[in-house]
Amino acid sequence: MKKIFSALAIAAIALMAAGCCSKTEGGFKKNSEGAIVTPVPARPAGQTDVIGLVTPKLETVRIGIVGLGMRGSGAVTRLSRVPGAKIVAVCDVEADRVEKAKKALADREYGEVAGYSGSTEAFKELCERDDIDLVYVCTDWVHHVPVALYAMEHGKNAAIEVPSAYSLEDCWALVNMSEKTRLHCMILENCCYDFFELSTLEMAKQGVFGDIVHVEGSYNHNLDPFWHEYWQNWRLDFNQKHRGDVYPTHGFGPICQVLGIHRGDKLNTLVAMDTKAFNGPKHVRAQGGQDPDNFANGDVTTTMIRTEKGRSILIEHDVMNPRPYSRMYQVVGTDGYAAKYPVQQYCLRREFLNGEPIDYSNLKGERTLMGEALAELQAKYPCPILTEDFVNLAKEVGGHGGMDFIMDYRLVYCLRNGLPLDMDVYDLAEWCSIGELSAISMENGNAPVVVPDFTRGAWNKLNGFSYAFAPGDGPAAAK
Ligand SMILES: NC(=O)c1ccc[n+]([C@@H]2O[C@H](COP(=O)([O-])OP(=O)(O)OC[C@H]3O[C@@H](n4cnc5c(N)ncnc54)[C@H](O)[C@@H]3O)[C@@H](O)[C@H]2O)c1
Repeated sequence: MKKIFSALAIAAIALMAAGCCSKTEGGFKKNSEGAIVTPVPARPAGQTDVIGLVTPKLETVRIGIVGLGMRGSGAVTRLSRVPGAKIVAVCDVEADRVEKAKKALADREYGEVAGYSGSTEAFKELCERDDIDLVYVCTDWVHHVPVALYAMEHGKNAAIEVPSAYSLEDCWALVNMSEKTRLHCMILENCCYDFFELSTLEMAKQGVFGDIVHVEGSYNHNLDPFWHEYWQNWRLDFNQKHRGDVYPTHGFGPICQVLGIHRGDKLNTLVAMDTKAFNGPKHVRAQGGQDPDNFANGDVTTTMIRTEKGRSILIEHDVMNPRPYSRMYQVVGTDGYAAKYPVQQYCLRREFLNGEPIDYSNLKGERTLMGEALAELQAKYPCPILTEDFVNLAKEVGGHGGMDFIMDYRLVYCLRNGLPLDMDVYDLAEWCSIGELSAISMENGNAPVVVPDFTRGAWNKLNGFSYAFAPGDGPAAAK
């Protein structure tokens, strides 16, 4: 909450200087439409945006991994299988986790890997090495940004687990550092690479759903079995201290790609609402934690956003209740619909299909495609980054069914070929800013809040989302 108040204090000063807004009873600045405005810090002199950023080609991408818990240890395995990637060093506060990662690699005769451990600052030595191109951050949320900023300051590209940043201040710090250093800072949003999302994105790009009108995403995942697994109880602690959608990006990232956010559309205004914390206090008691009744994060947080092009977005967060896992992933267009949960389905206008008779008694004016019919439709719109061999390799290496490997592969492929990454620092900031922006809305009576333009005016330079390929590779042949 401290960060929210500091952001709002800066906002008040910045906006008073700009003289663009009226002051509300609560002391916060609002624009002429009544939405709270947080500050957009001036771009430091000499900096320009990093839309389409490319860095020099790398024969081998030399990687340092920081954070070797549940997620980081999987990253070690995956990255060791990505062609053209070389893990040079690993780091964790806990020495035994470093030794375990090194042993796993040594058992496969991977070659020498350096290890750093012993404190939350040990990552600095890793970042200071001169033989690393990419620092891959898999720590708890509080340490993501300090590690990534230090890495970029020391000439390394950064890739950060989700959510990469939890405050507006940190989102802006990463944007500024990427622009200053001209280095990549990518959010590791693996859900952008799941097979249904990849197919649906391609179908959306080819106009199958018409104009996209509305999208939905969520993170509904009962974490009961996992709370006690997190290092020093960081995740429950974080939820206890922070209101808002603290884990928005799994649902939000893929639908932002469908909408082409900062690629022709932009997030304008957000409103959010939560329930009270029903289950949080029970978990704090079960873990023997302090002050259980003081639990900031509601069981269910719902956020709505309207975009510049007049489209709407719904995002939901619930890690507390026993309900089926769902990232929602729903796309509503003028000509069609896609949904991944609870069952995968597409629904298209009758004239786009060889129509069956309308079933008036069952209120069916459209045809819903599932199972084989769904697969047949997807096959007509192959995702340009997937080849059969690549899919087989991804499924063999795994990581949430293969999507984690596809993400790592694309990251390394783009760095090796000097191409723009699939996700840039503005994606990171837009997707992660939902945490604090939703909290600001709720702390102010569910008020509308302006989503800052992290590109500072460059949101309309690109026309829709696309993947980059090396010359000669072309779509569907990424090697
Ligand atoms: N993309 C996904 O599907 C997915 C899935 C799970 C977790 N995550 C994300 O991955 C990250 C890690 O989650 P986890 O489940 O592995 O947590 P974890 O608690 O199992 O591991 C965190 C690790 O980070 C280490 N660490 C903390 N601070 C450090 C520092 N300053 N330097 C070095 N090491 C440090 C801890 O010692 C611990 O080993 C989180 O951001 C989480 O949200 C993403």
